[in-house]
Amino acid sequence: MSKLKKTDLSVGNVAKRSGVAVSALHFYEEKQLIHSVRNAGNQRRYNRDVLRRISVIKAAQKVGITLNKIQQAMAFLPSNRAPNKSDWQLLSKQWNEELNHKIRELEALRDNLSSCIGCGCLSLKKCPLYNPQDELGIDNSGAVLLEEKVMEASSGG
Ligand code: FES
Repeated sequence: MSKLKKTDLSVGNVAKRSGVAVSALHFYEEKQLIHSVRNAGNQRRYNRDVLRRISVIKAAQKVGITLNKIQQAMAFLPSNRAPNKSDWQLLSKQWNEELNHKIRELEALRDNLSSCIGCGCLSLKKCPLYNPQDELGIDNSGAVLLEEKVMEASSGG
């Protein structure tokens, strides 16, 4: 555990400087994405490095990486210093394939939407977007039909 420093920041200061709400900072801390120490008055104090960690979290969230994935990746960051350029390169490399998958999903969604526009059939068999009983959800999770389209597109089929 790190010791208190005079330069440590209060939760209000971190919120103001990072643009992240205090409640979100508490949530990040609960998820162990950031860490604080308590001062004599039992108030949270953050090392200034926390601002860099929050930047990484915000950047990852901006491109759609889930907090769980961010949490897994950030667990490998050193806790005694701010994440640096090479740390960020490692993290972003790790997320690259996931981003490519998301892009393919969005492309498939766009293509499917354009075939649905003006159609209105909402056919369970034919429409890739409509699935009222979530029949495929019994054995699968997520947008199964859409994922199949993405796989087809990826394999050139
Ligand atoms: S609404 Fe007809 S195919 Fe989607």
